[in-house]
Amino acid sequence: MYTIFVRLIKFFFFKSPLWRFFLPVMKFDMSISQLNFIVNTLDAIANDGAVLEIGVGGGATSVVINNFMKSKSIRRHFYAIDTFSGFAPEDILYEKDHRGKTDNYLYYRSNSKEWYSKTLIAHGIKDATVFQADAKEFDYSVIGPLAFCLFDVDLYKPTESVLPRLYEILIPGGVIIVDDCSLEPSIYDGAGEAYREFCAKMGFKEERVHEKLGVIRKPLS
Ligand SMILES: C[S@@+](CC[C@H](N)C(=O)[O-])C[C@H]1O[C@@H](n2cnc3c(N)ncnc32)[C@H](O)[C@@H]1O
Repeated sequence: MYTIFVRLIKFFFFKSPLWRFFLPVMKFDMSISQLNFIVNTLDAIANDGAVLEIGVGGGATSVVINNFMKSKSIRRHFYAIDTFSGFAPEDILYEKDHRGKTDNYLYYRSNSKEWYSKTLIAHGIKDATVFQADAKEFDYSVIGPLAFCLFDVDLYKPTESVLPRLYEILIPGGVIIVDDCSLEPSIYDGAGEAYREFCAKMGFKEERVHEKLGVIRKPLS
């Protein structure tokens, strides 16, 4: 009921000519140090390739990444993927049936592809490619060589299923940052478990930065 009410209010805000004045500004899931680490890591990548954010929510971090690239004249295409309707039912079920979680995971359901795209446009970002999709179902060959990915879908199943496919298209020297990799138990600790499993399987040393960012770097050679 609450979600329907919020969606209705946002629907009218974004349809009105005043939509620019009702944007969710300065509302971040990331701390300043985490944002700083994300953009500086992206900045340090030398080889060509795209930038991808999976799990974009309302677009707060996407705005920071894109404006950073613009300010540094970094010419990489930006892709975004989200369901824009929150977590997939089977991913929630997995948390409950296999990971002992009791939460209903009814968050991030009051977003939309249109509102996200308009949020980018209002911040001067006009050339992003936005996909409304379940990350588990997406064909990553569409994105091609990948230089950097912020992977932020919180739960075990989508993280476990997508990480190997991202690593496949990652360029030498490219970086994937997985959010929610803290060792502290939480309703979002599934992403961290999948990150640690992936590192173990690939023989990579885990790199956890600013408490919750799990880093994967593809060697240059
Ligand atoms: C923590 S929010 C992302 C926050 C965003 N990265 C930021 O920093 O502003 C998690 C997002 O993941 C999305 N999500 C969850 N499961 C997904 C899936 N299987 N496929 C695509 N998106 C998913 C949700 O819709 C939600 O918007």
